[in-house]
Parts: sequence; structure tokens; C-alpha cells
Amino acid sequence: MIDPIAMREQFPMYSRGGMYGDLPLHYLDNCATTFKPQCVIDAADRYNTDITANTKRGDYALAHAADVAYDESRETVASFINAHVDEVCFTSGDTMGLNQVAFGMAHRLKPGDEIVVSYHEHASVVLPFFKVAERTGAKVVYVPLDERGRITPDALRSVVNERTRIVCLASTTNVLGYSIDVKEMAAIAHSVGAIYVDDGAQSVPHKKTDVRETDADFLCFSGHKMCGPTGIGVMYGKRELLLELEPLMWGGEMNARFNADGTYTLDDPPSRFEAGTQNVSGAMGLAEACRFLDGIGYKDIHDHEEKLRRRAVDGLSAIQDIEIYDPDADAGIVAFNSKTVFAQDMATLLGSKGVFVRSGTHCSKLLPIYTGAPATVRASFYIYNDEEDVDALIDAASHSEDFLNVYF
Ligand code: ALA
Repeated sequence: MIDPIAMREQFPMYSRGGMYGDLPLHYLDNCATTFKPQCVIDAADRYNTDITANTKRGDYALAHAADVAYDESRETVASFINAHVDEVCFTSGDTMGLNQVAFGMAHRLKPGDEIVVSYHEHASVVLPFFKVAERTGAKVVYVPLDERGRITPDALRSVVNERTRIVCLASTTNVLGYSIDVKEMAAIAHSVGAIYVDDGAQSVPHKKTDVRETDADFLCFSGHKMCGPTGIGVMYGKRELLLELEPLMWGGEMNARFNADGTYTLDDPPSRFEAGTQNVSGAMGLAEACRFLDGIGYKDIHDHEEKLRRRAVDGLSAIQDIEIYDPDADAGIVAFNSKTVFAQDMATLLGSKGVFVRSGTHCSKLLPIYTGAPATVRASFYIYNDEEDVDALIDAASHSEDFLNVYF
């Protein structure tokens, strides 16, 4: 069981007496990004303080130390998702990974081919595939959502066919907090010969991910949403697909050689997808974040988030005029709206009490087609949140109309 008081001792963001300036710190925007524990900060700093050198290029001891740290970080991350080390490419984050997959697989697409996504998907899924569709003549199609807004296996079956080339879905959606069975969805994509891309931004930080078990062809996620540093993420890909994938970024240390006549030979994956100077500090911090989360254990993480989510749902649903989009979401996310206070005003009002949530479309700009709401308020929980955070959210939301009188 997670003890949030002990947990907070590891996070410098709580070192100022649990305050942010003169506000009590009730950070509930963990789907956007997470706080970092001291061990992650130290691991990332070790590159800057002890072993700064460019990697993969130096023939001296210091560069070797940086190489070893970078390679060991990749091994840790690979084992965290049960991948082979050569299948783990470091990226700047989920967005870069998803763009790399979308543009890198464009050669498979021709006019009339189909790419399957859903109204839940983030801009970093929808927009790269829009662009790739525009360039290739392929079409983006949407899995129909059921009455609760969920993607069922039957709904996916109803849209895949011999023209489907790629299916890309979030394993946990970032607004309504729905999770899908990736193994089942990937099998449906594979049954028509399509590749399956798992957007793991909101799932990898919260539940155990095993790429051998899910059989997804690609998995992308970000470090900063799982207690790791910003600017580092992962694109996992099956080896044969990484060999086929066209790199998005070209430059140093992704090629074996190039010649004046324009011919070149690329490095093997994963280096092929890591052009330029690698983010060694980020990789070291991410590896430490993997060890940190493994040390806590995903069952405890899930149980803790579920306890807070349930408390938030119970408290918010007792407030007149508040609508919760799905009281039975799978992840530690509560999306809601007030019938009287617009979502962004609500977020500002909650923020004035130190309750930091996100409002708007949360980068998932197609979801309002389903919800009918142009914006929602979203509270999202993680390992260092406690019941006081939830109660502060409920209390502030229940007084939102009083604040409005002060502000407007
Ligand atoms: N994708 C992040 C979110 O859902 C930024 O807030």
C-alpha cells in the first residue's frame, strides 16, 4: 500500500511544506506531467556532474563512461517493457515516437488504404496520420464508440478490412481514462495484416506493460509522465519493422557511411533513429524512473489511484450541477463539467485554491464530437497524491459559484 506522506519525502516538489508559494499544493494534473523523485533527479544529474561527454563518438575513458551509462539505461528500459534492447529507441517523447512511426511507415500506404484511429486520440496520433494520409492518398477512419464512449473489440472489427494498414490507439485514453485490451486489439489489426501502434503515454506510467504479451508492433511513451525527465521518451518497435521504418531525423551517429554520390548506409536500429547528440541525462533519468516504479509495484500504484478516483467521483457527484463523464473510468482520471461554470473558469477557480487541474480539450480535439462538450475539467492522480488533495478538489468545486462572484 502506498503511504503518500512517505512518498512525498522523495519528491522535492513537496519540500516546501507542501506549499506552492502561498497556496497549498494539490497537484492533480498528472496526465499532463508528473513530479520527479530525488533519485531520478540525481540519476539524470550524474551525467552533468560526473560523466559529461558526447556518446558513441569518443575514444577516451570519459566518453566510454557516458556510452556505458547510455547503453545500460537502454537495457533497463527494455527490461521494464520486456523488449529486446535493440528494439528500444530513445526519442524526445511520445509525440516524436508517434511521428516517427507515422511518417516512417508511409511507404506502405497508397490511395484507398486506411489508417484506423478513434475520437479519443491525442493530436500526436491524429495529426501525423492526417499528414501522412494527405501525402499518400490513404484515408483516416474512426472506430465507432459505444454508448459509454468506449472502444470495443467488435467496434474495431467492424472497421478493419483488407485496406487497413495501420491501427493506432491509446491503451489508456487521456480524457475519459478508458483502457483497452491491447493484446486483443493488436490481434484484430493483425488479422487483416495491419500493424498495431500502441500509444502508451497514459498507460505505461500506471500499469505493467509487456510488449511480448501485447504483441503491439510499436509502443511509444514519454518519460515525463512516469516520474522521469522531460525530453526523453521511447519508441519500441519489433526488430523487422524497425529495419523497415524510414528515419524521420537524419544526421550524425545514425549512419555507418555516406558517399559523394548520395549513397549511404544506415546504422542498425536503434541508433538509426537517434540522430544527433543523444539525451544521455534523460535516458539515465528515465532508467531510474523505471526502477523507481518497479520498486513501488503496479498493483499498489493502481490501488492507490483507484482509491483516490473513487473518492473524487463520490464527492464531485454529490455536488449539484456537476456532471462526471464516466464515474467508472479505468484509470486515475476524472473528467467533469459544471453546468454553471465553464471548464476553463473552473480550472482557474480551483487553481486559486491550489488545486491544479487541466481544462480544455486536453489535445484530444475530436472527443467533443462524442461528449458534446467543447471543454472538460480533468483531475488526474498519481502516487504522491492523497485524500486531502481530493477533498480540496471537492471543496473548491463545491464553492465554484462563490468564487465566480469574486472574479467576475
Ligand atoms: N497529453 C498530455 C495531457 O493529456 C499533455 O495533458
